[in-house]
Amino acid sequence: MDKTVILTGLRANNDLHIGNYFGAMLPIIKMAKNHDEYQINLFVPDLHSFTTPIDHGSLYEQTLANLRLFVAAGLPLDKANVYIYRQSFIPAHSELTWILDCFTGIGEMNRMTQFKDKQVKLTTSVDTRVSMGLLNYPVLMAADILLYSAAYIPVGDDQKQHLEFTRDIAMRMNAKFGDLFVVPKSAEEQNKFFSLDQGLRIRSLVEPEKKMSKSEDNDKSVIFLNDQPDIASRKIMSATTDSLNQINYNPTKQPGVSNLLQLLALLTAQPQNEINANWQGKTSYGELKQAVAEATNKFLVDFQAKLSSVNHQEVISRLEANETAMNDQANQTLQKVQRAVGLRQ
Ligand code: TRP
Repeated sequence: MDKTVILTGLRANNDLHIGNYFGAMLPIIKMAKNHDEYQINLFVPDLHSFTTPIDHGSLYEQTLANLRLFVAAGLPLDKANVYIYRQSFIPAHSELTWILDCFTGIGEMNRMTQFKDKQVKLTTSVDTRVSMGLLNYPVLMAADILLYSAAYIPVGDDQKQHLEFTRDIAMRMNAKFGDLFVVPKSAEEQNKFFSLDQGLRIRSLVEPEKKMSKSEDNDKSVIFLNDQPDIASRKIMSATTDSLNQINYNPTKQPGVSNLLQLLALLTAQPQNEINANWQGKTSYGELKQAVAEATNKFLVDFQAKLSSVNHQEVISRLEANETAMNDQANQTLQKVQRAVGLRQ
């Protein structure tokens, strides 16, 4: 493990949308393409996926389908420094989690914002319980990171607290047992490192004050990567705008219109300021929507063509080879920990 490790988790059971594509997938793919000097770990946290209820019948296939989406988006499978793997195929994740659990306070986990939010959602819905798994979520995430001595972990704001916990538990274990773990970089250093990709937020088409997200259970607000292109275009045509009747790029005052301008720039790969200059001051929102709808349509047609030409078998072979390599790396860290806590000599 000589290269600095950048590690990122790709959720297993989400339908991915263009917000994920531009905000998370493309930045990490760019990193994978251009930075041979890093080891890049892209893994699917499949064990995390049922900390809240899911359809278990589709989990396995969806994991593979999401990996294919990454390949279609340009993830290079031929690079030796890029590793793709499934969490549950590396048993060390579960084992390290148990050990870390025994050094983690219940109160500490109870105070995690995401836990509190999800707990409320679960207890107000019918027929669900708050599982130990949900409480334990951040510890598994810490194990995901510490097993590979990852330094940089690009995460959204909702995951920053879990990253802080990862640093805490790593330092706590190091203080007690000597130099066991590489402590991931601080939030500040992470921000500096990923600064170029920060601040990109595609917004909901229906409520543009919010970010585009699947959980809104309003299908009209989201463009999924597997949406039929003409249906996606219709979603754009019915996007919420405002009543100012003049196009300006101003995300605070005109979030809907600005979101459309941003989408147009991203979908056509043109600089934002050029797009803004072209549309600035015009009064027809319909015309802008038409342009974005066409760009969306073309983008999806192209993307879906690439997706259908992804070679499934190649993805599986690469996955299996990488999982073997990652088992080796993870087991080295696990054995070090097992020795430190007295399980091995
Ligand atoms: N919790 C992350 C999310 O919801 C996914 C994840 C799991 C992850 N383990 C990770 C991300 C380790 C980065 C590092 O997005």
